[in-house]
Amino acid sequence: MKGPVEPFKIKMIEHVGMPDENRRKEAIREAGFNTFLLKSEDVFIDLLTDSGTSAMSDNQWAGLMLGDEAYAGARNFYNLEKSVQDVLGYKYMVPTHQGRGAEHLMYSHLVKPGQIVPRNMYFTTSKLHVELPGGKMVDSIIDEAHDPENEHPFKGNFDFKKLQAFIDEYGLDKISFVNVEMDVNMAGGQPISMENLRKLREFCNDYKLKIIYDATRSSENAYFIREREKGYENTPIIDILREMMSYSDGCIYSSKKDCLVNIGGFLATNDEEIFEATRNMVVVYEGLHTYGGMAGRDMEALARGLREGAEYNYLKYRINQVRYLGKLLMEAGVPIVKPTGGHAVFLNALKFLPHVRREQWPAQTLAAAIYEDSAVRSMERGAISKGRDKETGENIFPKLELVRLTIPRRVYTNTHMEYTAESVIRLYEKRDTIRGLKMVYEPKYLRFFQARFEKISL
Ligand code: F0G
Repeated sequence: MKGPVEPFKIKMIEHVGMPDENRRKEAIREAGFNTFLLKSEDVFIDLLTDSGTSAMSDNQWAGLMLGDEAYAGARNFYNLEKSVQDVLGYKYMVPTHQGRGAEHLMYSHLVKPGQIVPRNMYFTTSKLHVELPGGKMVDSIIDEAHDPENEHPFKGNFDFKKLQAFIDEYGLDKISFVNVEMDVNMAGGQPISMENLRKLREFCNDYKLKIIYDATRSSENAYFIREREKGYENTPIIDILREMMSYSDGCIYSSKKDCLVNIGGFLATNDEEIFEATRNMVVVYEGLHTYGGMAGRDMEALARGLREGAEYNYLKYRINQVRYLGKLLMEAGVPIVKPTGGHAVFLNALKFLPHVRREQWPAQTLAAAIYEDSAVRSMERGAISKGRDKETGENIFPKLELVRLTIPRRVYTNTHMEYTAESVIRLYEKRDTIRGLKMVYEPKYLRFFQARFEKISL
């Protein structure tokens, strides 16, 4: 298989420069070997994130011109509300500036000090927004998710034994709610099955526990359900999405991913109590409840993007482009998380750089080395992202120490995937020459964004 055929043509292009070897070396040193601190103009192919980096369609750009910039009650708010109702099936929607704004509103409302929130793995900002009101996020994902080699088709699934053990250990009143991520980011973009979602609903009904989704990559998850789960082969993506959402009490959503826009987010629910509380708080932190930090034009692009991002032909191309990069790397023997996930290819840094000790941050090291080689920007997703234990202050070293090559939607061609694969393969062949890093600056919150490193001297 060559890369998938793009179901669009290109109307406008953006020039990118290619820094030479000397500039690449200098740029990564100036950035403290943290790819988050590189200047975009020093980057050739930007695979840092799929968040807010999509190319919008002509239909979305046209929507921008129809932005109603009224402070209150803009028509674009109602268009967005209608899209959320049609595509996801929730009645109520509260807009926010991006996903973490929605996390803040939802989790600060639901979490009481001392409570825990079981989730299928964790996400950085989600974990922090559970911790800030005094809670703790605990992991109930199946063991297979922690093993990069395991090819389970739904590595995002919940392990009900783990969930039961948390209830037994902490007591029911200490469980704030159950948090379900779609297409689990930190596990490698791995989906959760419909069967697992349905069973989770039954399980939580028995205990009267609320289920809140992180629906950020739910359309990509829905594609995997259609591709891999019996009975959904011919089901329209929107029907899959609506069924998925029907097993929840609400969701938060970073629309910067599957909704093909550069900014925005929301929370949605059928629960009047959650809606009432969060709609009240949105005016404190984000803006009026009919814009929540977004301009009218942003809401219009989002209203259209939520529908476009759930189109089957688009999703098929999208998932297969990511898979194409994964295939090129696997064929060359490069260790990646299997199966290839929805939004990114994840390199297994522990296998790639076995000579770099955990305290020398193998994934951070590898991300910096890839930039130095080819001006491709990737991201560490391992111990630096995981942070320190809230109680002991010690570094946590998760089983997954990964580098994420995240593919923006509709932005890069399959040739860009080939260029990226060539760089990673070249580095893999000379991996013994790559030295580790030491952290020389560590911020208090979400340290991966701003931490600085130096190369360990020989
Ligand atoms: N939940 C998930 C699963 C995410 O991946 C993100 C963001 C958020 C919540 C927060 O949303 O950025 O709009 O505030 N993920 C980006 C990433 C940053 O690169 O994976 P946000």
